[in-house]
Amino acid sequence: MTEQTRPETSKGGFETRAIHAGYEPDPTTGAVIPPIYATSTYKQDGVGGLRGGYEYSRSANPTRTALEGALAAVEEGERGFSFASGLAAEDTLVRSTVRPGDHVVLPNDAYGGTFRLFDKVEQAWGIEHTPADLTDVDAVRAAIRRGQTKLVWLETPTNPLLNVGDIEALAAVAHDAGALLVVDNTFASPYLQQPLTLGADVVVHSTTKYVGGHSDVVGGALVVRDLDLAEQVAFHQNAIGAVAGPFDCFLTHRGLKTLGVRMDRHCDNAEAVVEFLTGHRAVTQVIYPGLPEHPGHAVASRQMRRFGGMVAFRVEGGEAQALAVCERASVFTLGESLGGVESLIEHPGRMTHASVAGTELEVPADLVRLSVGIETADDLIADLDRALSS
Ligand SMILES: Cc1ncc(COP(=O)(O)O)c(C=O)c1O
Repeated sequence: MTEQTRPETSKGGFETRAIHAGYEPDPTTGAVIPPIYATSTYKQDGVGGLRGGYEYSRSANPTRTALEGALAAVEEGERGFSFASGLAAEDTLVRSTVRPGDHVVLPNDAYGGTFRLFDKVEQAWGIEHTPADLTDVDAVRAAIRRGQTKLVWLETPTNPLLNVGDIEALAAVAHDAGALLVVDNTFASPYLQQPLTLGADVVVHSTTKYVGGHSDVVGGALVVRDLDLAEQVAFHQNAIGAVAGPFDCFLTHRGLKTLGVRMDRHCDNAEAVVEFLTGHRAVTQVIYPGLPEHPGHAVASRQMRRFGGMVAFRVEGGEAQALAVCERASVFTLGESLGGVESLIEHPGRMTHASVAGTELEVPADLVRLSVGIETADDLIADLDRALSS
């Protein structure tokens, strides 16, 4: 097994860790950036004589090792693992920690793909799940089946309704029942929130989003703080094989280095957009954890550095008007996904969350979701003004 590199700089501030952790300049060439090791196999110095533990690139690849070390450092975990997508990371985690007959508590407004994974795939293999309101600690306690519940799965803020769960309180509830607390940290990013430092056991990322940051790569990650759990995940990562390739790791790692500066601009622009939308006559509700009236504002203020780049709002005129706003916007690109430098707009009911239509996770039809990018704020506001007024 390869060692994830822990240079001195992995102990510095967030940006220092994001830029330096996981990789020391190559001892042979001095290459400052981890090269893309486009190799499937490695020459052995005699049978079993591995150089640096590298044997076969499903098991480990140096470009991936560098990214995994950096992810562990920014999340303040013990080990990071990089996957071909966020859902591949989630499935590998489930198989590492849950067995047929076990039970998982899910957010009742989880990302649609996460719900689909449990509802349509894991359930067929005997893994039961209960959706619960993760903003309500008592509701989570009531949903837990002692002895059977192995995971409490939290997303905070959630996709797309931006509900906020209390990581510290939910970690205590999960641990009391002998379960692990998993936190999908995709929306906040490790710059704004570090769940492992608040008691969570596993962090999940769709690195496709803020970590990658440029809408040019699909990927996922797990970061854990317990070394026994790390061994389980490492075994399953290799045994299942849903790993990220070296080109994808290179892009994701490049994105991670600028996460801090990008997130601050995402937050600045989101705040400007929220201010514009609040009080607009065509908008009936603005949903943003930074607003004092948001029900999760107090918890978010405690556990997040700032409130992120995702904004949701509801419009007068129902679904037809929500669809029209999405279609009229032009600086905001109509598209799925989030977390890239460019602003995106979408209709969750018809797009990202179509897979939960008709279930208790269904989202309001008049809801519009924005991933506020890092363009000039005035241009974003003018675009929304046009889209809402036409
Ligand atoms: C919060 C959240 N978690 C997980 C995922 C799944 O990640 P991926 O699309 O990289 O498989 C997504 C994708 O949108 C997401 O928004």
